[in-house]
Amino acid sequence: MDKMWSGRFSTAASSLLDEFNASIMFDRELYMEDIEGSLVHASMLAKQGILTHEEFEQITDGLHQVKKEIESGEFEWKISDEDLHMGIEKRLTALIGDAGKKLHTARSRNDQVAVDFRRYVLKKNRVITQALSELMEAILNVAKEHTSTLIPGMTHLQHAQPINFGFHLGAYLAMFKRDIERFQSSYQRNNISPLGCAALAGTPHNIDRKTTAELLGFDGVSVNCLDTVSDRDFALEILFNISTMMMHISRLSEELILWSSYEFGFVELSDAYSTGSSIMPQKKNPDVPELLRGKTGRVYGSLMGLLTVMKGLPLAYNKDTQEDKEGVFDAVKTAEISLEILKEAIKTMTIKPRNMQKACEIGHLSATDLADYLVEKCGIPFREAHFITGRAVAKGEELGVDLSKIEYKYLKEIDERIKEDVLEYLDLRYSMDARVSEGGTATQRTKEQLEYFENYIKEFKQ
Ligand code: ARG
Repeated sequence: MDKMWSGRFSTAASSLLDEFNASIMFDRELYMEDIEGSLVHASMLAKQGILTHEEFEQITDGLHQVKKEIESGEFEWKISDEDLHMGIEKRLTALIGDAGKKLHTARSRNDQVAVDFRRYVLKKNRVITQALSELMEAILNVAKEHTSTLIPGMTHLQHAQPINFGFHLGAYLAMFKRDIERFQSSYQRNNISPLGCAALAGTPHNIDRKTTAELLGFDGVSVNCLDTVSDRDFALEILFNISTMMMHISRLSEELILWSSYEFGFVELSDAYSTGSSIMPQKKNPDVPELLRGKTGRVYGSLMGLLTVMKGLPLAYNKDTQEDKEGVFDAVKTAEISLEILKEAIKTMTIKPRNMQKACEIGHLSATDLADYLVEKCGIPFREAHFITGRAVAKGEELGVDLSKIEYKYLKEIDERIKEDVLEYLDLRYSMDARVSEGGTATQRTKEQLEYFENYIKEFKQ
């Protein structure tokens, strides 16, 4: 009968219940947030005259002692304490006596856990955006080197139009920038303090929520206590934000896997970020991007898990909510290591512009340019131009020659209106550089885009 809540019980909890009910083996991750929250709560109670100055000092010393014990590994995490909140409070009371029992005045574990978990999520929002900006920088540095390196732009994984590799990487910079913004907007929306909501309805004690909010680094105080102790949308937001980010990471990973295959040969991942086969001595496997792609599924699982936990809960706190943490911890750890290793893999990979160029010479990438030529230079309606170009492509196929290399005489045979200056239009580099519309692939446009992202990263750093 050593439970903090055992007053109304006559039989001790079964050890099976202890094991089933406990969160202490995973919520200890929040020990820092929990102790900081308690320190601030105690200081407010003292300021409001609810605790004496002496009690406040004892609590402060005691909490620092507990923190030390946790950090040195001395602290005994016991399943029978149920969760970290009670584990810490119990140890505090063992250390300082009666004053420890006063700490929980005007507070419930319901607002306490909401404070701890929210602050953890907010902190990780920051950590992840920082790591995202570093990943962006690594991508940018490669992109800047390759604003005239031709690569086949694809749709349906089929050769479509020539683009440059810097432009291709620029697409990922755009995605990761939006990811950063998504984390930032979640941060702003959720940066409000639950402390003082108590169990669900507030407290009759004369507390000061503004002060505790400020001391804990929140922008303000939550509006409705019932909502604050029960909702977990801040946790769902980080799961969604990580999921979306991982989806982008997974798409890039998929391309790295393709690009490092013999069929593409566009990049070679560094040995430091590749693995071998236990049976085939010649192999070099792209395990890093493959695992990134795989871990994306696991993060989606955590998002779906918490959405499902939350969907049928009546107001306010329900124990189901305790299931909110492990998925978030796991997703955050996955995000952190994923961002780090992807950044390193990108920094250390070798780009193979010659293979990219060769790939551009297959699949008639400048076909659209021939159609555009027919429209622009010959005044032929686009539909008809499309048809004529189709015939030119068929001729190329028949000759086994790419449209960018076809001899003028064959084109003239197809349509008299085609003049010799067409050859310039069919040149792959010309084709890439012709796409000068805003956001287009032309080298000059690509450079502008990369400058935009470079400025964004610079501003982010400040
Ligand atoms: N361990 C609990 C959780 O993680 C803390 C809140 C418990 N509150 C309660 N009334 N049982 O959700």
